[in-house]
Amino acid sequence: MKIWDDVDRYISETLVQPDAALQAALTAADQAGLPPISVSPAHGKLLFLLARAVGAKRILEIGTLAGYSAIWLARALPPGGQLITLEAVEKHATVARKNIERAGLSAMVDVRVGQALDTLPGLAGPFDLTFIDADKQNNAEYFRQALKLSRPGSLIIVDNVVRDGAVIDAHSRNAAVLGVRRLYELFAKEPRVAATAIQTVGVKGYDGFAIAQVLS
Ligand code: SAH
Ligand code: DHB
Ligand code: MG
Repeated sequence: MKIWDDVDRYISETLVQPDAALQAALTAADQAGLPPISVSPAHGKLLFLLARAVGAKRILEIGTLAGYSAIWLARALPPGGQLITLEAVEKHATVARKNIERAGLSAMVDVRVGQALDTLPGLAGPFDLTFIDADKQNNAEYFRQALKLSRPGSLIIVDNVVRDGAVIDAHSRNAAVLGVRRLYELFAKEPRVAATAIQTVGVKGYDGFAIAQVLS
């Protein structure tokens, strides 16, 4: 909807001001034919602010694409901090590594290629923040793994948990919707986390994200 886009652009232009490296990352993604599904600038900055708010020193991302959200997250890290980002598609990882290098962040970002369900078990925690943004049908399993790799106080953030409202269709047979609904159920019954979800509108349409804090 035009008003959502206009307001989102107003917010970005006034408060976010994405710089050359972030712009270049999106241009490179576009030129490589990657889908335009990176987080929005305002959402990227929110990830940055959340990572800073919890003083994240180690961050895990599932779903790199072109490295746009990875750049925002890595910029929140203190010297010596680390971001590990998991990506299934070699071409996406190649575009991301170049974008991350252009942003001057290669030393702190490790892009690992493989199916996240295969690469997650080989990781050593704890991570202070995990951003889950890959194939939605595996959301619940990614959350389970992220929980194992967390410490009390860690944040687990999950993108795309509203999907134009499709999330409330209890009869959906769409794998992504089912995956998101399984995630909500897990959040609801998992006593080790406190979670909420926020609907968003803007340049990426109508969607939302969930945030869980690990309690114990
Ligand atoms: N976080 C990025 C966008 C990620 S798009 C940003 O906001 O900038 C989702 C990414 O997840 C795609 O690059 C896709 O290839 C990757 N992906 C999909 N299934 C995956 C899987 N099973 N394991 C790892 N990555 C996967
Ligand atoms: C899709 C995936 C995303 O991570 C996103 O932010 C938007 C769309 C998708 O697979 O369609
Ligand atoms: Mg997403």
